[in-house]
Amino acid sequence: METVNTNSEQLIDKFGRTIDYLRISVTDRCDFRCVYCMEEKMEFVPRAQLLTLEEISTIARAFTELGVSKIRITGGEPLVRRNILKLFEDLGQLPGLTNLVTTTNGSQLPKLASDLKQAGLKRINISLDSLDAEKFRRITRVGDLNKVLEGIDAALAAGFEKIKINAVILKNRNHEEVTDLVQFASERGMDLSFIEEMPLGVIDDHDRAEAYYSSDQIREDLEKTFTLLPTTENTGGPSNYFRLAETGTLVGFISPHSHNFCGDCNRVRLTCEGRLLLCLGQEHSVDLRHVLRSNPGDLEKLKQAIRESMDIKPEGHEFDLTAKPVIFRHMNVTGG
Ligand code: GTP
Ligand code: 5AD
Ligand code: SF4
Repeated sequence: METVNTNSEQLIDKFGRTIDYLRISVTDRCDFRCVYCMEEKMEFVPRAQLLTLEEISTIARAFTELGVSKIRITGGEPLVRRNILKLFEDLGQLPGLTNLVTTTNGSQLPKLASDLKQAGLKRINISLDSLDAEKFRRITRVGDLNKVLEGIDAALAAGFEKIKINAVILKNRNHEEVTDLVQFASERGMDLSFIEEMPLGVIDDHDRAEAYYSSDQIREDLEKTFTLLPTTENTGGPSNYFRLAETGTLVGFISPHSHNFCGDCNRVRLTCEGRLLLCLGQEHSVDLRHVLRSNPGDLEKLKQAIRESMDIKPEGHEFDLTAKPVIFRHMNVTGG
């Protein structure tokens, strides 16, 4: 059931942006090793350092009391975290939280899609970069395309209100598939966002500048087959959406390089260790695990730390694909 937030408090940063969207990474682990996200060999956070599911719920409660109405559960791969369904059920009860969503690589959906729907999840984003098993394997290093396709079928069968496909497009790896991916999504009534790769963490065997493929180039490619109509659609995320005249499908572009969207930023991120990151592309952060554990049961202390964090939210990222990454944390630490 959707609840109206009667709490009038809001989080506003020093650039006047209202923060009403929290992305929570529940694990940095993943069963894939996507080339743009991780090194082939990664060290993960020891389990003892993770926030417990109860701690995550407490932090989420504090945020909703501060006006946050949208929470996205991310990873790594969120669905590999033990007892994750319990977290969805608990968060689903939070007053004021009108939009509880997740982003997954799809591999666990054959098993979990229907339970997630039961737990109250309405929308889900699934990452899918290629429809070719060989290319899919090369991009994810270890992933099995068939498993993900089965997962997408399971999600469709479970009856989510909206399923969105996310595709990171890399030159000479999958750029020639953009039209096929749109076709795939639209035949199944799903939306789709194309993402420009962001330089987070050093990845030895992958050259990001060489793999850059801009949103404008993708649009040009799609326009050979489809008519893209501009829309004012806004899901509270960074996608700039177009609607296909032919099928009504929404096609979004997340373009941190070619069309910076930091001016409209409405979100912050919680890592699986409880670090509140104020920007995906900067290091400004507050250790909420420390606040929580040194003040057990004191929600007000937590809320005060969150309010104060607004003072250090930076204006935006300074991504440069041609230089060495300045942010050493890989994407799996924040889930995008
Ligand atoms: P919707 O709610 O469906 O609009 O989803 P979303 O785009 O907010 O979330 P999703 O998890 O599907 O993220 C898609 C991509 O957007 C990921 O690659 C994220 O890294 C990227 N993204 C989300 N927020 C930001 C941001 O603040 N800055 C940058 N640079 N990228 C972001
Ligand atoms: N740049 C852009 N998107 C990325 N993702 C993971 N790593 C990166 C990166 N370096 C995407 C995943 C998923 C979303 C949450 O983030 O493919 O769709
Ligand atoms: Fe896993 Fe997602 Fe990173 Fe791929 S992008 S390795 S699926 S966390």
